[in-house]
Amino acid sequence: MSVGLDDVIAAETVLSHVDGEAGRLIVRGHDVEELAGRRSYEAVAALLWSGFAEEDGEAAVRSALGAARVAAFPVAERLLPFSDGLAPVEALRLMLGALPDASEVPAHILVTAAMPVFVAAIARDRQGASPVAPDAGLGQAEDFLRMLRGAAVPPEHVKAMETYLVTVVDHGLNASTFAARVVAATRAGMVSSVVAALCALKGPLHGGAPGPVLDMLDDIGAERNIEPWLTDALDRGERLMGFGHRVYRVRDPRADVLKAVANGLRGGENRIRFAEEVEAGALDILARRKASRPLKTNVEFYTALVLEALELPRETFTPVFAIGRVAGWAAHVLEQESTGRLIRPQSRYVGPVPRRAA
Ligand code: ACO
Repeated sequence: MSVGLDDVIAAETVLSHVDGEAGRLIVRGHDVEELAGRRSYEAVAALLWSGFAEEDGEAAVRSALGAARVAAFPVAERLLPFSDGLAPVEALRLMLGALPDASEVPAHILVTAAMPVFVAAIARDRQGASPVAPDAGLGQAEDFLRMLRGAAVPPEHVKAMETYLVTVVDHGLNASTFAARVVAATRAGMVSSVVAALCALKGPLHGGAPGPVLDMLDDIGAERNIEPWLTDALDRGERLMGFGHRVYRVRDPRADVLKAVANGLRGGENRIRFAEEVEAGALDILARRKASRPLKTNVEFYTALVLEALELPRETFTPVFAIGRVAGWAAHVLEQESTGRLIRPQSRYVGPVPRRAA
């Protein structure tokens, strides 16, 4: 028995493959490096959904998502007053849960389009600003940053955001995608499946790591503190955020894509240099202290630096991850609905056995 289901194959998929030994991520026939920075988010969503959904090609997906962002906006406006006191990811959970299972908009389009609309509205609300309505003519990446900032977005920021969204769009049977497929397999529908996925993403061992990565960099503060800080953290039994992965035994290829993006954004050079020093220190100490397990940099380390350079508020990092991952979740739900059986594993009972009545 494998407690974490490490080597269990629980689904067949045409969507993506994580080759942990080679440090390779294939998204529907393409290495992630071929897509990130080269194809739009809409083109990659169309690629993932092809054969499972009606919209065919980048242009059709772009226009369907644009119209659906406009349709989702009133939900954000209506629910913002009820999200007071919630963390952004909790407010996102609330809004996603309010989407209808059946509407004129296909559910995979609605959930994908709603994500940037909701996250931008929640982030602005936390800064005391009213939500900005979507522009149906833009792509998801640009419209998200525009709705968030309430101003036009420089092309290099659009490009960085788009590259980030594509880099994280799908990643095999990770915890949130598995959660989505389990719920989809009961035929509960797209919205419920994506809410389940978001709930799994929220945890710090999955999509909740980038905020804590920046907290760690801030806390370390200066080069001379790197070694003692990391040593103390490991002595306390803590995990270093942004390092380690269940599947990758070598470097996570997404970390390299995002490192290049972070390096290409002006203004944060000192921060990135310092992050590289912390990364080197962490890899060194992990290799010494956890020698039995290769622990390398994962996607979340450089995600943190890209999102920080884009001036996104730290507490929105996990919701922003969901803006990228949602097209992958939706594709897995569509695939599960078209091919899958109910997912129902068994547990081994190790509790007390009832005494037989005499
Ligand atoms: N820092 C320190 N030690 C670690 C780390 C880490 N980041 N990751 C794993 N380890 C250690 C564990 O403590 C354990 O050591 P032990 O054998 O001495 O007890 C050993 O490595 C094996 O750990 P597992 O729990 O079996 O590893 P698992 O495959 O379950 O963990 C995970 C994968 C959750 C990503 C883990 O590496 C981790 O917690 N990393 C930090 C959080 C993080 O960066 N999450 C984002 C992941 S990427 C994503 O989901 C989008």
